[in-house]
Amino acid sequence: MDLTGTFYGIGVGPGDPELLTVKAINALKKIDVLIAPKTEKKSDSVALSIAQPYLKPSVEIIFQTFPMIKDFAEETDVFEANKEEILHELRGGKNVGFATLGDPMFYSTYIYIFKLLKRCGVKIVTIPGVPAFLAIAAQIGRPLAYGNDILTIIPATAELDAIKNFLDKADATVLMKVYKNFPEVVDALKARGMIDEAVLVSRCGLDDEKIITDVAAHKDEPLNYLSTILTQRNSGKISGKNF
Ligand SMILES: C[S@@+](CC[C@H](N)C(=O)[O-])C[C@H]1O[C@@H](n2cnc3c(N)ncnc32)[C@H](O)[C@@H]1O
Repeated sequence: MDLTGTFYGIGVGPGDPELLTVKAINALKKIDVLIAPKTEKKSDSVALSIAQPYLKPSVEIIFQTFPMIKDFAEETDVFEANKEEILHELRGGKNVGFATLGDPMFYSTYIYIFKLLKRCGVKIVTIPGVPAFLAIAAQIGRPLAYGNDILTIIPATAELDAIKNFLDKADATVLMKVYKNFPEVVDALKARGMIDEAVLVSRCGLDDEKIITDVAAHKDEPLNYLSTILTQRNSGKISGKNF
């Protein structure tokens, strides 16, 4: 396929407008079109608001809705339509950016669109970003893993049994996407002696950031989608809450 534009997957970090790489900023400055991903439920795009200050005034912003799905087989039509819209811009010789919260290759919608465009022979440049869990560790002053610590990262949207199985073995742990089954996650952490070490951070780096250290006390409150828990089995280690 004769495509002239380049597609940039740009990690914009988790929220702090200064947590973008120089490479991400340079890409944002040169693109002609920015794809701003959003979910069905929301009308705004956090990734866009982080990217906005770096865009040239003439940039065209296209909002694309991406349903939250668990595997590539779901919602094919929506993804195909989004892919076609991007291909149309690339064929016109435009450089197209896709702003991704955190890092593009880490639990990101970008991965779906990346896969589809790669199959079409598109020239793709992926620019890594600071993932939320690393920004959170820095923000709350909590070393995440040290020496021989084994770090486990669990998307809490996984089956509860799978979450429990991994928690049984886990030491230093990151729980992402905890918004859906927060009370069950709290119970699972309690049962494994991992609740006292838990810290929950919502909307890290954004104006309404929240840091919760008594996680169990908030068990029945609704959580923002951008919420992550850091925890650890053994307290008193070099990493962890009481460092
Ligand atoms: C679809 S994943 C995106 C991960 C992202 N690509 C990254 O590198 O961090 C969404 C999850 O990332 C975490 N997350 C992303 N941004 C966050 C933020 N600013 N504060 C807290 N958690 C965040 C939350 O666990 C959220 O449910």
